[in-house]
Amino acid sequence: MRGKSISSERFSSILSPIREELRQVEARMGQALITDEEPLTAILRGLFISGGKRLRPALTILASKFRRSEASKVVALAAAVEMLHTATLVHDDMVDNSIMRRGNPTLNAAWDDGVVVLVGDYLFARSAALSAETENPRIISLFAKTLMLISSSELREALNIQKPNQKDYYWRISNKTASLFAAATEGGALLSEAVEEEVQALRSYGYDLGMAFQIMDDILDFTGDEEELGKPIGSDLRQGVITLPVLYFLEEDPDWGSVERILKGGEEREEHIHSLVTRVESSGAIRSSQAEAQGFTDKAKEALSVLPANEYRQVMLELADYLMVRRS
Ligand code: IPE
Ligand code: IPE
Ligand code: MG
Ligand code: MG
Repeated sequence: MRGKSISSERFSSILSPIREELRQVEARMGQALITDEEPLTAILRGLFISGGKRLRPALTILASKFRRSEASKVVALAAAVEMLHTATLVHDDMVDNSIMRRGNPTLNAAWDDGVVVLVGDYLFARSAALSAETENPRIISLFAKTLMLISSSELREALNIQKPNQKDYYWRISNKTASLFAAATEGGALLSEAVEEEVQALRSYGYDLGMAFQIMDDILDFTGDEEELGKPIGSDLRQGVITLPVLYFLEEDPDWGSVERILKGGEEREEHIHSLVTRVESSGAIRSSQAEAQGFTDKAKEALSVLPANEYRQVMLELADYLMVRRS
């Protein structure tokens, strides 16, 4: 078991006002993952006890707290959101051939692709069934749309069709990451008696937070520590995925040759990757990417101004700031 870093302790402390609700979400997930097939139950249990920040369910809970809401439905939706997220990670790691996640071996490190696809599918369906417990058609439809956006953007990333550019990058992160953050907050708000203006404000907060979060994830893929992150670094370039730090780097130093060598593969590919990672890391590209993430964070925080200034709004503001300095 890895020790808790200072940064993750700060994260738990920020979320302490909703600790009890998060505990209920864990319990709800544990219950929902019991199946009639012992091997499947064991795999699912392994996936969920291996950790994860539970950031998206926290967002659902927080967004439900501004007006009166039905607690059991909020817990079901928060559990559904985390399961949808975990399902996308199971498939993402298989597509990316990634062998470590949350500090543990990925499913694809231990099982054939067929098993991994089916476990992912099971989780998607389990998540959909949980979201249906809200009995809210708008939430069920939001869930289905979010899954379509995530799949189509993951596919675009895997196919690598586009010559990398910022417009394409923002399209991808908006669909693969911000869409789920937005669904998490919008769904929580819809389960409360929030008025439409408040629902939209919470949705905007989730969306912009998600954009900032993915940019920071893409930065951490260059500057992070594998031990703290619990997943490999440098993996985007290794997968041929061009992210914002590389796009800024190329603006400073238009050396497409070095990127093309990596995308084409070949014998010295690992050395080319290593050298590009070092060059990007020590260029201004990291700072430019951080500034871009900060812009989304500021926008996310501004969106909260229409909401009542309660304890939960404060948590959401602190959370946004924390995500800019997170190491895991
Ligand atoms: C990882 O998300 C996938 C991205 C959108 C970058 P998290 O960093 O929230 O993953 P866990 O759930 O904490 O493992
Ligand atoms: C997020 O992007 C993946 C999904 C939304 C499924 P990444 O590919 O950057 O996530 P990590 O870095 O593997 O966690
Ligand atoms: Mg990945
Ligand atoms: Mg990543």
